[in-house]
Amino acid sequence: NKEGYRPLRIILVGYMGAGKTTVGKALSKELGIPFYDLDWYIESRMRRTVKQIFDERGEDGFRKMEQAMLHEVAEFEHVIISCGGGTPCFFDNMDYMNRQAETVYLKAEPDVLFRHLQMGRSVRPLLLGKTPDEIRSFIREQLEWREPFYARARHTLDVSLMDNYEKIQISVDQLC
Ligand code: S3P
Repeated sequence: NKEGYRPLRIILVGYMGAGKTTVGKALSKELGIPFYDLDWYIESRMRRTVKQIFDERGEDGFRKMEQAMLHEVAEFEHVIISCGGGTPCFFDNMDYMNRQAETVYLKAEPDVLFRHLQMGRSVRPLLLGKTPDEIRSFIREQLEWREPFYARARHTLDVSLMDNYEKIQISVDQLC
């Protein structure tokens, strides 16, 4: 009996360093449903790192590929997806995600994002070659135009105060 049956899909959006991957993994463990990080999915499908894709095809080429890959993972039946910081801000990706899933904006202050990015080990092509001061102002500028896209997610979770990501315990009630 499939009546009332609905796939459980959660898509996490938010700026680089908001903790999308960390929260996604934690949720996946808690809910027992598979986790996909969109950047990792792109890398394994394309056999290229995100940095190589930026170098070879430019940001435009990356965005097209990102959209195509988003359309693959967001069709899976039960899934938690952490997308890239830019994913919601190109094409009609945010509308598409809202149709497919429970979308959650992980909202954090620029200072918190900066701190997480300093601690992180991931290579972020958009930040390469920038000094810490340049990164600070880049985050502020980008958030200004990106925030309206993020804010269209169905749910918002303020992560500025969650300092220890290891200990994050998010209940589904908070999200749905
Ligand atoms: C990007 C964020 C990255 C990655 C790419 C571009 C962005 O993902 O998709 O480097 O435009 O904000 P994370 O948010 O997972 O770092």
